[in-house]
Amino acid sequence: MTQVTVVDHPLVHCHLTTLRESTTTPAEFRQLVRRLAMLLICEATQTLGVEPRQVRSPLGVVEGCQVAERVGVVPILRAGLGMVEPVLELVPDAEVWHLGLYRDETTAQPVEYYSKLPDASPVDVALVLDPMLATGGSATAALKSITAWGVRRTQLISVIAAPEGIEEVTRCFPETAIYVAAIDRELNQQKFIVPGLGDAGDRIFNTSSAS
Ligand code: PRP
Repeated sequence: MTQVTVVDHPLVHCHLTTLRESTTTPAEFRQLVRRLAMLLICEATQTLGVEPRQVRSPLGVVEGCQVAERVGVVPILRAGLGMVEPVLELVPDAEVWHLGLYRDETTAQPVEYYSKLPDASPVDVALVLDPMLATGGSATAALKSITAWGVRRTQLISVIAAPEGIEEVTRCFPETAIYVAAIDRELNQQKFIVPGLGDAGDRIFNTSSAS
């Protein structure tokens, strides 16, 4: 059964509001995506496995813990790149496996253009990063590749989602846990999320003028 978590935190609401604003500059947009990714990752890593670790502080021995799982971070290019750095800030030993997918403008179907996922030795948990979950085509294509690699636990972390995308991922990957900052109203005829935030990739990389 897919678990969908809409992270309900005042800072998430505030940063998302500014992220959506059309006058937000690419520099501000990148920073806001980082902040939101960090807040979402805190929630998504609640289930991360840890093991005991004893350390010595200047005043004595203390029982603590350390991450006990191999974590794979899978950003979907391009926009997912904007979420990698904050994840590595929190999970510094994570492996980063890039997946290149773009959505064909006429069909809205995902087209894969980069993947170097290995055939063996899958990570214990894969965190798929993409700020936008629209039709769900890109996310399900990514999850197919990750599952084919042998990864058994997957999480999808997106800033905003459309109900259609949530439904598609839920249908294809009922075991995948989804974390989002908001589920928007709908997709428009061009399959853009409404009200959304525009094209995250273009806003992160300042390429809006070329589209
Ligand atoms: C956007 C977005 C997702 C995808 C979502 O990427 O970042 O990857 O579309 O749409 P879907 O759920 O309908 O598949 P885009 O194709 O614009 O590529 P980009 O990140 O390189 O701009």
